[in-house]
Amino acid sequence: MQVAPSLLSCDFADIKNEIKTVNSADMLHLDVMDGHFVPNISIGIPVVQSIRKATDMVLDCHLMISDPEKYVPQFAKAGADIITFHVEATENCGKLIDTITELGVKPSLSIKPNTPAEAVFPYLDKLYMVLVMTVEPGFGGQKMITDCLEKVKVIKAEIARRGLDTIVQADGGINDETLAMTVESGVDVAVLGSAVFAQSDRNSYIEKIQRM
Ligand code: DX5
Ligand code: ZN
Repeated sequence: MQVAPSLLSCDFADIKNEIKTVNSADMLHLDVMDGHFVPNISIGIPVVQSIRKATDMVLDCHLMISDPEKYVPQFAKAGADIITFHVEATENCGKLIDTITELGVKPSLSIKPNTPAEAVFPYLDKLYMVLVMTVEPGFGGQKMITDCLEKVKVIKAEIARRGLDTIVQADGGINDETLAMTVESGVDVAVLGSAVFAQSDRNSYIEKIQRM
């Protein structure tokens, strides 16, 4: 399984060194929150820009924002490699996926816990990745809503049925307690925030999960 550490749980004052402690991961997960789509505010475009200068790792930007179409070009310019937006945040998913692709970035679509798996089906063939939220977006350190892993299975089955190569990511509440069931769901990429940054040897922990 691939691993994407979420920097939401890092020490932002020491971000360059924090990134080095997780550089064996497959991508860096950057949680962007606007205080409107979710009840919390995190990082934005200037921070993504600085992180781009600090590392060659794949930058996976998870936009938990309203009106994502307004900001996608700026996140692309800031250096995002993957841009995830929420199906609940826009009426024009298909168009925005095309825009992201045209900007040379990999498009990804996310669903919140109460959104059915089928909401991403019309777009699967255009997507690099689907992000299944396993907590309500907004905060790190929450307990996983384990039922959401069923949606991973449904989406993986539809991808296989259509012979696509879209990958599936799960985000929220993945830790030692929930890792086995996360692997069992067949998910391709696991996002871990608090569980990774609580480790004394984060890279070894990441490598252990990559072998699962
Ligand atoms: C939540 C964010 C997650 C969060 C995960 O809204 O999208 O990426 O950082 O943190 P943990 O792994 O602590 O649940
Ligand atoms: Zn996230």
